[in-house]
Amino acid sequence: MTDAADMARRAADLIEQALGARRPVIGLAAGNTPRATYAELVRRHRTGGLRFDHAQYVLLDEYAGLPADHPACFRNDIIAALTSRVGVPAQAVHAPMCAADRLDVAARRYESLLAELGPRSIQVLGIGRNGHIGFNEPGTDWDSRTHVARLRPETRSDNAAAFAPDDVPTHAVTMGIATILEADRMLLLATGTSKARAIAATVDGPVDARTPASALQRHPDVTLLLDRDAARDVRGV
Ligand code: F6R
Repeated sequence: MTDAADMARRAADLIEQALGARRPVIGLAAGNTPRATYAELVRRHRTGGLRFDHAQYVLLDEYAGLPADHPACFRNDIIAALTSRVGVPAQAVHAPMCAADRLDVAARRYESLLAELGPRSIQVLGIGRNGHIGFNEPGTDWDSRTHVARLRPETRSDNAAAFAPDDVPTHAVTMGIATILEADRMLLLATGTSKARAIAATVDGPVDARTPASALQRHPDVTLLLDRDAARDVRGV
């Protein structure tokens, strides 16, 4: 449990460590929570010369049905917020195709690409207030691979700010839970009271498909970085 600046520093430390792997593949989450971490990485690149250009970057998920140049496409957002600022060419930043006509094909292609790129040294995760990781909404199978997901109403409303009212995507292509758990190390970031229930269920609850993030209990190397508000309902905090 920590404050926002300390959380960003500690998360950046773990990503920096992962960049030291022999052929690093870094799993990134989009969304608001990791923004401070990505800003800290940009700062380390500018002031300390931290290198990023030897790694490949893979996103957890992508909205379906947006034009490829839409600024809310997660890949475009990550390129703008992080990779273009740290000397990484856009070709090294991978996500499912948001403009694909055949989403099932886009999902299979992404799963094959992940296999070709090889093991991720770290997977950065945020969490939905309903406990989703990636866009694996409650009820997703534990052994799911990259697939097309229908977004729950609460997820659509939480992500609505980036869209005109009638344009909020209904679907996304997301790494499955089994795909996510293949990374060597999990780093889950959460801030704010809206995440408190999901975090408590993830940490203290049973491994239960109603809280997809509870699957992390089955991974041997998980770091949770939480602010006070997100950690509020965890037992013993
Ligand atoms: C984003 C993703 C989502 C978000 C989650 C939290 O790539 O996979 O699971 O991490 O919805 O979003 P924020 O951080 O915006 O609250």
